[in-house]
Amino acid sequence: MQDQPFSLRLPRSIVFGRGALAELPRLVRELEARRVCLVTDPGVRRAGWADRVLSLLEGEGLEAVVFDRVEAEPDIRSVDDCAGLTREGGGWVFIGLGGGSALDVAKGAAIVAGHGGSIFDYLGVEAVPGPTAAKILIPTTAGTGSEVTPFAVFKDKDEAPEKSKKAIQSKFVVAEAALVDPELTLSCPPRVTAVTGMDALVHAVESFTSLKAGPLTEELGLKALELLGRNILRAFGNGANLEARYNMSLGSFYAGIGIANAGSGGVAALSYPVEGAYKIIHGIGNALFLPHVLEYNSIAEPGKIDRIAAALGLESGGGREAVERIKDLINHFLEVFGFPRRLRDLGAKREDLPALAEDALTRQRLLANNMRRLEYEDLLAICEMAF
Ligand SMILES: [Fe+2]
Repeated sequence: MQDQPFSLRLPRSIVFGRGALAELPRLVRELEARRVCLVTDPGVRRAGWADRVLSLLEGEGLEAVVFDRVEAEPDIRSVDDCAGLTREGGGWVFIGLGGGSALDVAKGAAIVAGHGGSIFDYLGVEAVPGPTAAKILIPTTAGTGSEVTPFAVFKDKDEAPEKSKKAIQSKFVVAEAALVDPELTLSCPPRVTAVTGMDALVHAVESFTSLKAGPLTEELGLKALELLGRNILRAFGNGANLEARYNMSLGSFYAGIGIANAGSGGVAALSYPVEGAYKIIHGIGNALFLPHVLEYNSIAEPGKIDRIAAALGLESGGGREAVERIKDLINHFLEVFGFPRRLRDLGAKREDLPALAEDALTRQRLLANNMRRLEYEDLLAICEMAF
């Protein structure tokens, strides 16, 4: 039972499905776009998706300016560069097309285009003063869930690695439209499929087990686990398998709604410090901590762990057996993907662990959602388990 009222915040329009990209002209019309800025990355451009979007826009009589220099883990200054392309005139709509990075740059640039100044003025929680330029977000990976979340994450390359992550959370960052077409993920290479898929799996587990989870996010989290857990190896093993891609996209989308509304927990809190300190990407850090946080959390609400095991299709008598089966499955994924499974594989030294635990402890917004209390000693113990 949930004794708090629950709420759900979503993009105003959502289109999901095979061939959904063809709906773009309708969405652009509904938003009364007069000018369009397409935000994407070189890989997506090469795959031909950017040209497809441009020709759909042309059919609407709209010419787009294109910012196609989005990098993985984008430098925060690229947001201002992108927004700078839209100084002239009004009625701008930003179309983010790509992985989480392109979507986040589009979100950030829409803020700057709407309110002026620099993206540095809007960092933190709810610092965006009002509605931004409109955003249509079109993911080409099944992973970050950025198309449905109120978050945008950037990197400040001028800062020390452990302080380099800059995040924005705002209700105005939620897209006006999310357009998810699983066909767009067919060009996603195996490693990116694995990294983003594991990120989505972590979103599903963390939002399902979050203390802020409500009846809706719980259902979505469980369905996401089922879709992701049963398809991640298929999508990795054969990227052309459209059914697996469809299920990964849907699972990632549900899990994104989960973290957008129920939040993340201990895995994210521990992953961020490690991503900064050892320069690893988000999905890898998340995946590394997942089995350990799951083990730590399992005593707090064994019933929920049993439901995770069932959603993943694992036979177990529940309790300890369920925990072990889930950990075995996650470790199997990590092995197949060739992901680092220990902090030492990333170059961590045992004496680094207290600083990592201290950094994780500062992430109270995330820790507050975790189903089992996490104090400094607990975080340190988990880092030791993961070492
Ligand atoms: Fe994530």
